[in-house]
Amino acid sequence: MQRIFSGIQPSGIPTLGNYLGAIRNWVALQQGHECLYCLVDLHAITTWQDPAALRAQTLTQTAILLASGIDPERHIVFNQSANSAHARLAWILNCVARIGWLNRMTQFKDKAGKDREGASAGLYVYPNLMAADIMAYHATRVPVGDDQKQHLELANDIAQKFNHDYGVDFFPAMEAVVPPAAARVMSLRDGTRKMSKSDPSDQSRINLTDDADAIALKIRRAKTDPEPLPTDPADLEARPEARNLVTILAALSDRTPAEVLAEHGGSGFGPFKDALTQQLQQSLAPITAETRRLLADPGYLQGVLRRGAGRAQAISEPIVREAERIVGFVS
Ligand code: TYM
Repeated sequence: MQRIFSGIQPSGIPTLGNYLGAIRNWVALQQGHECLYCLVDLHAITTWQDPAALRAQTLTQTAILLASGIDPERHIVFNQSANSAHARLAWILNCVARIGWLNRMTQFKDKAGKDREGASAGLYVYPNLMAADIMAYHATRVPVGDDQKQHLELANDIAQKFNHDYGVDFFPAMEAVVPPAAARVMSLRDGTRKMSKSDPSDQSRINLTDDADAIALKIRRAKTDPEPLPTDPADLEARPEARNLVTILAALSDRTPAEVLAEHGGSGFGPFKDALTQQLQQSLAPITAETRRLLADPGYLQGVLRRGAGRAQAISEPIVREAERIVGFVS
């Protein structure tokens, strides 16, 4: 059985982008795989997090994963800092990865912005830690949204260089599993920017904790253009906001954009937005309700994470020990 690893940063409330790009796929992949799903708190602090908020968001995200259908009995849900194997292997990989490779990472450039010199060193070596997350379990399949593909390519380069430098065949190749639709959900305020849990504008995203009224308001305010919806999906190419909203409705209702446009093409955004609102409310209501129920019992959620970390450690410990032996550490 192939092993799956994926992670999400507890740096905010997960968005519809996280759901369609990753979490929904995590749920589906439980069938037929051994899965580890990780709240990557070490990654989250590469940009400053309020400690109380980080703790609360870690539990909220755990609740959202379970409410979305992740089964913590059959699979492993845990927070990254609870297993020191990640940080140990990341250090070794810091010494394998080349600075030139990290300089090509577009996410660092986006996140560091203009003040690159002022970004944390952690943000810079972030992709090495991400590679360590996956490699510490010899996981081979990694369900992620489109924005993480470059990091996965880097992880493969690091694994290959480790194997080559030490003359071993120890770390396997890793494959990004990107959903066929909605691999990149865009902001509701600007169709050229990714929907993000760290965007300063709450109106730019649907949070997985938003209630029916919040969803209705955000979709009503979502940016569109003055033209009616096209009938041909090819005509969405030059219309980023329209394309994004059609993609979201298609993904949530398990249809293709062409099928959505067969229903809504030729008409204005009003009736389309009503249908999108209804679909979002219907798809997210069970998740928000179950999340609220689970959050009423933080002790249970902490227990899930603690047990998950123990099971994760049992898998990673022999692998990371062997990596340490290969590089020549005395144990
Ligand atoms: P993060 O927390 O930014 O996002 C978690 C997952 O959600 C996907 N995603 C999106 N998909 C579609 N549209 C969007 N607008 C959107 N925004 C986010 C991301 O692609 C991701 O799959 N570096 C990772 C976390 C990580 C990780 C790992 C992932 C750490 N270690 C090891 C896989 C394996 C990140 O920042 O995710």
